[in-house]
Amino acid sequence: MDLLRTKSIEQSIADTDEPEYQLKKSLSALDLTVFGVGVVIGAGIFTLTGRAAHSVAGPAIIVSFIVAALACALAAMCYAEFASTVPVSGSAYTFAYASLGELFAWIIGWDLILEMFLGASVVAQGWSAYLGVFLEKIGITIPAAIGYGGTVDLVAIALVVVLGVLVTVGIKESMRVNLALVAVKLFIVLFVIVAGIMFIDPANYSPFVPPAAATETTSGLTQPLIQLFSGAAPSAFGVGGIFAGAALVFFAYIGFDVVATTAEETRNPQRDLPIGIIASLVICTILYCAVAFVVTGMVPYDQLDPTAALANAFAHHGQAWMATLIAAGAVAGLTTVVLTLMIGATRLIFAMCRDSLLPMGLARVHPRFRTPWIITIIVTVAVALVAGLTPVGVLEEMVNIGTLSAFVMVSIGVVVLRRKRPDLKRSFRVPFSPVLPIVSAVICAYLMLNLSVETWLRFVVWLVIGFAIYFLYSRTHARLHTHQPIRRSMAKAMTEGVVPRDPE
Ligand code: ALA
Repeated sequence: MDLLRTKSIEQSIADTDEPEYQLKKSLSALDLTVFGVGVVIGAGIFTLTGRAAHSVAGPAIIVSFIVAALACALAAMCYAEFASTVPVSGSAYTFAYASLGELFAWIIGWDLILEMFLGASVVAQGWSAYLGVFLEKIGITIPAAIGYGGTVDLVAIALVVVLGVLVTVGIKESMRVNLALVAVKLFIVLFVIVAGIMFIDPANYSPFVPPAAATETTSGLTQPLIQLFSGAAPSAFGVGGIFAGAALVFFAYIGFDVVATTAEETRNPQRDLPIGIIASLVICTILYCAVAFVVTGMVPYDQLDPTAALANAFAHHGQAWMATLIAAGAVAGLTTVVLTLMIGATRLIFAMCRDSLLPMGLARVHPRFRTPWIITIIVTVAVALVAGLTPVGVLEEMVNIGTLSAFVMVSIGVVVLRRKRPDLKRSFRVPFSPVLPIVSAVICAYLMLNLSVETWLRFVVWLVIGFAIYFLYSRTHARLHTHQPIRRSMAKAMTEGVVPRDPE
């Protein structure tokens, strides 16, 4: 059927395989791991941990981190198998086009746009929170109306605009800056763990799983969908809180899938992509569990600061300079996350324009900067508006639901592709397929059910818009349908690379 037409893997590769347009394959497994850790560690650990422990799970947030990591690990294996089979940019979207068919590819692409564009907005808000904390520690106060949580968060908008300009003019020269920022971020996270151990009071771990209780965040539309189904009285904490917490802190892991978008630039994608994806995930899981353990040990969970928990846990113990250092490090570290997510969104939309599921004209490449400037401007304006005008705390779940739904489809895609194309070379195979991919899909779907009713409603609206665009435009314009040739300038830009690198 038309909706299930697939773009063959050979064709996907051919689209990016003309020698003239080929990227230098320079990235190693280590580069990918650094890149992955750089994208993943962000607002999730720096801000969400505190909020989730404070009002959803208590000290048991550590278990939530483990549950979320499990879901990610299974999905990561599915991603790794896909990426090692279809080494083409565009991430899960491209994989799906090759396996599940156009409609599913469209839905995944549409979900991933949600992930990256709203993800960039959320992290920009987190950046603004930490900048506010940092400036305050050195005696400068940003007026409440224009800072984090204010009427218009001008601080977040300013960051997004500056990064948008960088992306437009091309940021290939900035790999060194990226590396330095990742190092700063890792240092800060390790600092929190090592310095924080001294301030742990074991009494803070009790009760480890606070008893379920009704709170203002768990009534009506703000309760997890699964509670509505079960008919149980709305509550936070308890065992349900652990899963609701996992669905929330899932945000902290988002980004490892972006590693898969670098396939075309990887020296040996079949080997290095799985290593890069899985290694970044393992490193982040260890760090997150350690941070969650330390922070909930330092401060009673109900006194954790929901905005800047890591820095303020140290302020709680009178360690002002440590809090300042952490806030400064977070500001530096979160910058790379916003940048990478913005580039990711741009690239994904570009790939969809290349296939003509979105208007090809949008993907016009700037004659001088050789970047898709129209898409970049659209992404920048959208991210800036959302970051600046949306109240804090409502977008994270949207990012999660978008990502989780893409993971569900990628997991199913692995099973489908094994059936349809058993002949393809897979240097990485998910063990125990189809059991593990199916378990992966089920766990991700279960986490989705733990997101709030209002998040589901917003998600449904997003999907309806997506379906409308698909059926009114994309289906008839798809290049697979029209056989329209790809613009050479676009093909070339496509191979310019998502990872900023040093000039040769
Ligand atoms: N995982 C990224 C973060 O936590 C999106 O900021």
